[in-house]
Amino acid sequence: MAFLDISAVSKSFGSVSILRDVDLSIEEGEFVVFVGPSGCGKSTLLRMISGLEEISAGTISIAGEVMNEVEPADRGAAMVFQSYALYPHMTTFENVSFGLRMAHKARDFIAGRVNEAATILQLEKLLMRKPGQLSGGQKQRVAIGRAIVREPRVFLFDEPLSNLDAELRVQMRAELTELHKRLGTTMIYVTHDQIEAMTLADKMVVMAGGLIQQAGPPLTLYDDPDNQFVAGFVGSPKMNFLAGQLVSADAGAVKLSGVGGAAEIALPIGGVGGGARAVTVGLRPEHLTIAGDDAPGELQGRVTLVEELGAESFVHLTAADGTPMIVRARRDAARAGSSVRLGIDAGRALLFERDGQRIRGSLTQQ
Ligand SMILES: Nc1ncnc2c1ncn2[C@@H]1O[C@H](COP(=O)(O)OP(=O)(O)O)[C@@H](O)[C@H]1O
Ligand SMILES: [Mg+2]
Repeated sequence: MAFLDISAVSKSFGSVSILRDVDLSIEEGEFVVFVGPSGCGKSTLLRMISGLEEISAGTISIAGEVMNEVEPADRGAAMVFQSYALYPHMTTFENVSFGLRMAHKARDFIAGRVNEAATILQLEKLLMRKPGQLSGGQKQRVAIGRAIVREPRVFLFDEPLSNLDAELRVQMRAELTELHKRLGTTMIYVTHDQIEAMTLADKMVVMAGGLIQQAGPPLTLYDDPDNQFVAGFVGSPKMNFLAGQLVSADAGAVKLSGVGGAAEIALPIGGVGGGARAVTVGLRPEHLTIAGDDAPGELQGRVTLVEELGAESFVHLTAADGTPMIVRARRDAARAGSSVRLGIDAGRALLFERDGQRIRGSLTQQ
């Protein structure tokens, strides 16, 4: 059994089902990120782990012990919120030590723990300040300090960086990675930001529609998504999706027509069953190239906009059927208003059923 085991967990508020039959195992020391659109149930799942929210069905266990009926304070989980939740009239020292003081720990013990946390979080010079005299990033460090001194078995973070500006978020991201390395404690982190999830996670858990869509290392989800939702959610700019018709399939390849309205392409995905049907082709912006002038039968696009970013450019196009696409290209690769042929890295193209399920084929592609 894994360190933290979520087994067939469901959650409803009244008659409204929020999470259905969620299964997830988390190893000790893992940095796990729950990511998904707003309202998909990330905070609810985290709160069920912490004990702040009742579990409607299923079990959550930590280190082999079922937690469903265990009081929040006895679960060994420490939660850090987006809102910091600091006491405004207390100094940093008082805020960080609050839980230990309530538990009537000895003065020396408290001072030792707080000083240790303050060193890790670079709060030494701020111990006598009140929250009103701290920046957003400093306040969030105090909130993390309050969690660290409890020496929890698992840290639970609910969008802790969302109130910070972009630059500070990037810095705090690096600090959290560093903190995780240093403490080695299991961390579960909730965010709606897929870039934050990619950069922090050992295991990224993509949630939507009350379900876990896929869980795994960030680059596995990027390269090998189970469905169109995950493929479109992970990566920026997003994966391009083009409608097409699957014409035939054999042991080595599938042949497609009408891709983006007009193109005939073959993809090296072997052993696809099921006969001719409408499908969706997924192509990441870096797996398309601007290849030159029009040639009949190949994928073409009309350039609508070129975003020059300095080192590279994002070329926005529309396919023959009007579907918008983005190509990641070198600088000055295309001009708005021109019509271009697009090269496809066919080995990296993905295929989906129209309902969004990934078509992998039964033979491994090389
Ligand atoms: N106490 C509650 N009562 C009723 N509905 C709730 C309650 N808490 C959350 N919800 C609903 O549950 C869904 C998931 O919420 P939440 O877990 O906060 O989403 P996320 O954190 O992914 O944005 C939302 O539709 C939200 O409105
Ligand atoms: Mg939330």
